[in-house]
Amino acid sequence: MKILLVGSGGREHALAWRLKKSQSCQKLYCAPGNAGIAEQAECVDIQVSEIDKIVEFARDKIIDLVVVGPENPLVDGLADKLRAENIPVFGPSKAAAQLEGSKGFMKDLVKKYNIPTAAYGRFTDLEEAKAFIHVTGAPIVVKTDGLAAGKGVIICNTKQQAEAAAEEMLSGAAFGDAGTEIVIEEFLEGEELSYFALADGKTILPLTSAQDHKRVGDGDTGPNTGGMGAYSPAHIMTEELEQEILDKIIQPTIDGMKAEGCPFTGVLFAGIMVCKGKPILLEHNVRFGDPECQTLMMRMDCDLAHILMMAAQGKLKDVQGHVNWSDDPALCVVMAAKGYPGDYEKNTLIQDIDKANEIEGVYVFHAGTKAGEDGKILSNGGRVLGVTAMGESIAQAQERAYKAVDLINWPEGFCRRDIAWRALKAKDEAA
Ligand code: AMP
Ligand code: GLY
Repeated sequence: MKILLVGSGGREHALAWRLKKSQSCQKLYCAPGNAGIAEQAECVDIQVSEIDKIVEFARDKIIDLVVVGPENPLVDGLADKLRAENIPVFGPSKAAAQLEGSKGFMKDLVKKYNIPTAAYGRFTDLEEAKAFIHVTGAPIVVKTDGLAAGKGVIICNTKQQAEAAAEEMLSGAAFGDAGTEIVIEEFLEGEELSYFALADGKTILPLTSAQDHKRVGDGDTGPNTGGMGAYSPAHIMTEELEQEILDKIIQPTIDGMKAEGCPFTGVLFAGIMVCKGKPILLEHNVRFGDPECQTLMMRMDCDLAHILMMAAQGKLKDVQGHVNWSDDPALCVVMAAKGYPGDYEKNTLIQDIDKANEIEGVYVFHAGTKAGEDGKILSNGGRVLGVTAMGESIAQAQERAYKAVDLINWPEGFCRRDIAWRALKAKDEAA
């Protein structure tokens, strides 16, 4: 197969790395890619937002399968345009991408199909929002309906804070059009995990779990980010919990989407709060998580290109059991540019990634990098590297990942030093 991967982050580098190891992948292109992806794929200078150019490239090169990494082009209809040209695509239609593109759509769907989720209301009117906040009480969570690059969720400890958040969003001041409709919901207390499953419109193929670290600082402090690190599988996952997630959340979502006339093809990434042992859905995403994907791709053993093609063609039932997972956990430490998630510098020199890659079980995925002159690697974004390690235990994976981090020479970068702390703390307490 000739495959075109769309995206340029750490998630896409991990996908490129795994796709390139697939027997059925003959040639891999990536639009636009990054300096690391260039080792696995031929990078083409087309941006993720240039939907028509992506379609044109796929047509001209007679691409067999397009794999879409990020959500934005899906929400904007990339998969529909490819399907209209009979080009197989791994990723949902515009209608199905509403699961992530509109929190109100997602909440209404899961409510209709009795999927456990936090109690909520949808609002465009500030006075109605205030009345709901008043009745529900704090803590309470205010969310933009539309995509806001992971920043559109505000957890409010007081009613006043919630009213202010609602006002800022609805006025368009804080998030533009993404916030002129909002969802307000009950605050849930518990431990979070991410769960991933493939879907082909009707059949699911369960993948595995991971746990993300969204706050910028150690001990989960400071502002939210796209994710500063992850490990897989999540320490609270059990066979029983996984079955419950599949039966009560994943399959009913896929069945509901089909019944609504917008069947979902791609990867469904459920953000789940486990409250007193029961899984409750926080959000659906229509793509792999970043940096969760890096840990999944390290643990995965299968012909990924073939599996994604089968998903694109509605044939997942033929490949059940074809995806195997290493029992060894994987852990990813994100190295970001100092200042992230606020302002940061670009074009700073990163050295000695190759030394880090020599450590057993380690692979450094590139997220925001670009090639400079003479083979130099330069930073080109907020989250820049995903230093990922496997180990026989989560402790060993963590030790290897940080050993690799410490070999990388990048004075303008930083990382959290405590990725997987929940898993390690739980192990300590059990011992
Ligand atoms: P979301 O983008 O909906 O996943 O929200 C971002 C983060 O906000 C989640 O990962 C949770 O940590 C937190 N969050 C969202 N909704 C709730 C909720 N109802 N209760 C508690 N925390 C929440
Ligand atoms: N790491 C969280 C996300 O990809 O949304």
